[in-house]
Amino acid sequence: MKECIGNSSSPEESQCESKEFPSETLFYREYEEFYKMAAESDVFGQFCRKAFGADFSQDGFSDIGQVDRILKYIPDGGQAHILDIGCGNGKMLAYLQERTGAFIHGFDYSNRAVTSAKKRYPQKSDFRQGVMGEINYPEETFDLIVSMDTMYFAADMTAFTGQLWSWLKKGGTFFCAYQEGDVMPKTENVHTTKLAEALRAQGIAFETKDITKECYELLLRKREAAVSLKDSFFEAGEGAWYQMLIGQTEYAEKPFEAFRGEMARYLFVAKKAG
Ligand SMILES: C[S@@+](CC[C@H](N)C(=O)[O-])C[C@H]1O[C@@H](n2cnc3c(N)ncnc32)[C@H](O)[C@@H]1O
Repeated sequence: MKECIGNSSSPEESQCESKEFPSETLFYREYEEFYKMAAESDVFGQFCRKAFGADFSQDGFSDIGQVDRILKYIPDGGQAHILDIGCGNGKMLAYLQERTGAFIHGFDYSNRAVTSAKKRYPQKSDFRQGVMGEINYPEETFDLIVSMDTMYFAADMTAFTGQLWSWLKKGGTFFCAYQEGDVMPKTENVHTTKLAEALRAQGIAFETKDITKECYELLLRKREAAVSLKDSFFEAGEGAWYQMLIGQTEYAEKPFEAFRGEMARYLFVAKKAG
């Protein structure tokens, strides 16, 4: 079982059973609970559709508008290999596969999420349970590597950025959605984020887009969606998740100018020379 984590990269190893991580792994227990709820709760699915425009069991800030921006980086022809870092239960990857025919790869440390992804999406897929900085893939494997709201949890973001870059094929793209003011403290601007520093330290050129306004609008939608489903959450015995969603969206109570002083959202795109 242990070989499934760490440096395993063969398809055989990826088929072996998932492993429970020690509960002291940062937020591990919380994510196991989250993906249990996401698998069982109809109301949460409705919430995601209302708030994000699609149900990818999001625990973050990635709505369908952001996810659709990924599509143009997936080569045509159904032969592309794409990796999602922090893939959760694989729903976003399945959507990208449905739209492009790509072979989908994903890893996440959540046993529950990865087990669910393997069951739901067995076609042209490879889901692994693994931790950023420990899991490994062969060099130049992927046409696209995407990571939505997950890079923050890497124990050494600079080292991990260099490692994921080695997994990209020449001409491939790294696409990352990155938030400040939530897990990561708010810094001056996009160039002072920890991810920008990590990319620069690895000598990787990148482009960015500030989507803080979109993020604010998404938080407003998240709050509205949660409030509109309040009774359904409580009737289903899922009031605690309603409270969590309300807690997560408190920032949306502030006017945008105050919000932007405390939170920011950026998209990063880095292309590997062909
Ligand atoms: C904020 S959620 C984002 C999930 C999804 N990408 C989305 O946009 O909704 C972070 C994800 O990273 C996973 N995760 C957290 N720390 C991790 C780590 N050190 N290694 C691998 N996965 C991790 C969690 O289980 C969770 O699925």
